[in-house]
Amino acid sequence: MITRRTRIAALAVTILAACRRASFVLSSSGEPGRDEAGLGRLFTIVGMVVVIIVAALLLTAIFRRRPPADPNAIDRRGRGTLWILTGGVVVPAVILVTLFFFVLITLSTTAQPPYSNVAGTFEIVGHRWWWEIRRVDDTGRPQFVTANELHIPVGRTVRLHLSSADVIHSFWVPDLAGKTDLIPGQINTAWIEAEKPGVYAVHCAEYCGMQHANMSMSVVAESDAEFQQWLASQTADAKPPQTDDEQRGLDAFVGSPCASCHQIRGTPAAAIVGPDLTHLAARRMIGAGALPNTVGNLSGWISNSQTIKPGNVMPAMYLKPTDLHAIVEYLGGLK
Ligand code: CUA
Repeated sequence: MITRRTRIAALAVTILAACRRASFVLSSSGEPGRDEAGLGRLFTIVGMVVVIIVAALLLTAIFRRRPPADPNAIDRRGRGTLWILTGGVVVPAVILVTLFFFVLITLSTTAQPPYSNVAGTFEIVGHRWWWEIRRVDDTGRPQFVTANELHIPVGRTVRLHLSSADVIHSFWVPDLAGKTDLIPGQINTAWIEAEKPGVYAVHCAEYCGMQHANMSMSVVAESDAEFQQWLASQTADAKPPQTDDEQRGLDAFVGSPCASCHQIRGTPAAAIVGPDLTHLAARRMIGAGALPNTVGNLSGWISNSQTIKPGNVMPAMYLKPTDLHAIVEYLGGLK
């Protein structure tokens, strides 16, 4: 028999399970996320207090016993007007102006990154439905390009220049910073910083078509040494094939339609329609967060990504099983 207590427990578990996600809107790590989450908490608390007071007044008005109306009672009407002016105009105006003041403070503190302790700049370009990431040096010269996984050093600021190759997207790392739109023909700037090491989920927060919900990426916050190592390995060209199987894989890749869209630096594959695959095996996920990067998932994705992420630009590949096996073997070695 299901008791009332069981039902309440089941409900609590369901609600808590929904909270147990990789990212949460009101949790935050590092500036500017902390400032923005603080503002979010302030709005939530003020909103809740207002709702409770309004609901209490409404219930009082509904259930209060009134004396019979006296047609000659002019002063009652005057009191009503005073209530409406105070509760409907003055109090909301004071609350909204005060909150607006806090918004302005947060805007000014989060608009520009601090000038010290900056770990460089990345350009992020939104595509339907994946993220292109370009590392640029201090003069704006490109250093390397990768996709869907950005590494940052813990406790240091990273500048982001955001734009789009097609429609409007929005870059959102709930744990680290608020949303910033990626707009075609325009560069918007944002910055992030993580206080703790970890993998932070990024979501596209602007509806951009069929696979909008599957346009994710990861921000990996790690020690400065690990970050420098990541920069060095990403800057390098792809490792040459080490085995006959890998060589067959590279040959099959270059001889197949794969090379018409993807780049593997250091090989003849140099197209930039799809994500750069130079260090594909170093990424945690494939398909912009669609699947964990495993041999099985990669084989399935290459064979027919349309069954996994319908509508994405990559068509089904009708490869010979031996070619598919060799390509997966080769790509799996591209750390
Ligand atoms: Cu990109 Cu939604």
